Amino acid sequence: MKDLHDRVATEVRRAIVGQDDALALLLSAAALGGHVLLEGPPGTAKTLLARAFAAALDTSFRRIQFTPDMLPSDVTGTVALRGSDLTFRPGPVFASVVLADEINRTPPKTQAALLEAMEERQVTVDGESHALPDPFIVVATQNPIEYEGTYPLPEAQLDRFLFRIVIDYPSVDDERALLRLARRGLEPAALDDVAAVATAADLRAARTSVDAVRATDAVEAFVVAVVRATRELPGVTLGASPRAAVHLLAAARAAAALSGRDYITPDDVTRMASPVLAHRLLLTPEAELDRFGATDAITAALAAVPVPR
Ligand SMILES: Nc1ncnc2c1ncn2[C@@H]1O[C@H](COP(=O)(O)OP(=O)(O)O)[C@@H](O)[C@H]1O
Ligand SMILES: [Mg+2]
Repeated sequence: MKDLHDRVATEVRRAIVGQDDALALLLSAAALGGHVLLEGPPGTAKTLLARAFAAALDTSFRRIQFTPDMLPSDVTGTVALRGSDLTFRPGPVFASVVLADEINRTPPKTQAALLEAMEERQVTVDGESHALPDPFIVVATQNPIEYEGTYPLPEAQLDRFLFRIVIDYPSVDDERALLRLARRGLEPAALDDVAAVATAADLRAARTSVDAVRATDAVEAFVVAVVRATRELPGVTLGASPRAAVHLLAAARAAAALSGRDYITPDDVTRMASPVLAHRLLLTPEAELDRFGATDAITAALAAVPVPR
């Protein structure tokens, strides 16, 4: 896993300055077969990061640019008459890495088509099911929900994302460094230099090594306590689900594997708590008004639980 990360990171860094944590989370998701939501203001390289990451993987890749007029069948595919036969024409969701760009710009029905595919790893059109490839990872991007003309994803659907990765503005040094990347006019040209260095088999091998990471009883109890603490917080109307607990333990395994360990430390759990849990919480309007956000809620949940040693 560690070796795979170093290989992929070398390639992604040709096109992307900084965002090391985001890349580690993307790779963890790819190894676990989880989906990722990249959230941040416009122009912070969410799309570019997803494209560079996909380019470093030797797997099939499709980008779906979501727009207000898009239909579910533009994602999943359609049944069409070919000669005298009805044949299924697979939509762009049939790829190992799917970039669902600006997912919150499309109405709920079309979002739901993608989110169903994510959950079930198959697409049903006209009563017939079609399996999606393995690995299958959706990397969705969205602007923070305050922006106008967007359709926020419902909580039940956010729960399907293993991670939400919050992309921030770069540091001064990084912002200067990204000016020096190769460009054609305004377009990033460095993407062409990214080589595909990780195969589907590499990702499956990474999954095996992540699955082998040990979790002690104490670590399991810690994960459950943190998740349950999110349900008890004042200001939170919807806490993290049992699915979130599964995701948190798996993410901690990946974090341990990335550090070259075969056992989870409580710190792995603490570090993964925000990217795994924050997007699943629903806060009361009063909490929002007090500027008590989901990340604050995670901090409070962690503070309420003693760390095992
Ligand atoms: N961290 C970064 N590293 C490299 N280029 C960046 C970075 N941040 C922004 N850029 C530049 O800004 C452009 C906008 O990125 P884009 O992926 O379209 O943003 P977003 O999808 O977040 O709106 C990129 O094509 C690139 O030229
Ligand atoms: Mg974009």
